[in-house]
Amino acid sequence: MNDSPYAIQTQSLTRRFDEVVAVNQLNLTVPRGVIFGFLGPNGAGKSTTINMLIGVLPPTQGKAWVAGFDVREQPIEVKRRIGVVPESLGLYQRLTAVEQIELVGRLHGLRVPEIRARIPALLDLLELGDKADKMILDYSQGMLKKTALACALIHAPDILFMDEPFESVDPISTKAIKAVLRDMVRQRGTTVFFSTHVMELAERFCDQVGIIHQGKLAAVGDIPTLRAQAELPPDAPLEDVFVRLVGAETGAESGLNWLTNAPAQS
Ligand SMILES: Nc1ncnc2c1ncn2[C@@H]1O[C@H](COP(=O)(O)OP(=O)(O)OP(=O)(O)O)[C@@H](O)[C@H]1O
Ligand SMILES: [Mg+2]
Repeated sequence: MNDSPYAIQTQSLTRRFDEVVAVNQLNLTVPRGVIFGFLGPNGAGKSTTINMLIGVLPPTQGKAWVAGFDVREQPIEVKRRIGVVPESLGLYQRLTAVEQIELVGRLHGLRVPEIRARIPALLDLLELGDKADKMILDYSQGMLKKTALACALIHAPDILFMDEPFESVDPISTKAIKAVLRDMVRQRGTTVFFSTHVMELAERFCDQVGIIHQGKLAAVGDIPTLRAQAELPPDAPLEDVFVRLVGAETGAESGLNWLTNAPAQS
């Protein structure tokens, strides 16, 4: 047993790719049993952070603990306790959803009868419906995400990592996935850590939000705290709050500046 109060903790966590510092001295704590949204624009360092936390990418500096275990020193302990929905989903196209879930369950060391007992409820929960016995290559984007989520949940993880889980998912499927995640947090005390660049998701769905910009953690907290930090009117759009917090220069009075500032064609 591990009695760390944190689901995730990082200390100066850093990852370089040659001259690019993708994640720069990240110090972050995420308590257990919350939905944590990791927000940031494209290239901010979200996926790199997740990949270090789940143990697929070694940090170049710093440390991280997941479920209280050191991701470098105790990777097996970490893997036992986490579920992962990667950005690329990583599903085998020629398996059915049921076969894919079984495969992942077995890789986690579950026995087949145990897996088979869990699958119908999981399929119902995610409304995977009658396509669950068809090959994955025939699935829509929403079904692919739901299948990846079912795979990530089969071993009932304590902490669920999801990289852009709602990308290309329609509003109905998004609603269904959110409801499943919310129930997992309420009923099992699961921690959900997901990345997104969609600001609206933060306001209504997340208990806490971290904003990463150019590899650095720009702000962390619940939305009312972030709003207060930004010192903007209470009804200011969340987008403006984030822009203020990251100190980003949009530099554009007009969204067409890129066009009007272009050199004239000769
Ligand atoms: N394997 C790699 N090799 C070189 N550079 C990389 C690699 N992976 C990421 N980077 C760089 O690190 C930075 C952060 O990338 P990352 O994928 O973590 O961003 P992200 O926040 O997930 O972006 P997105 O919203 O587009 O998914 C970017 O500048 C990216 O080009
Ligand atoms: Mg990414």
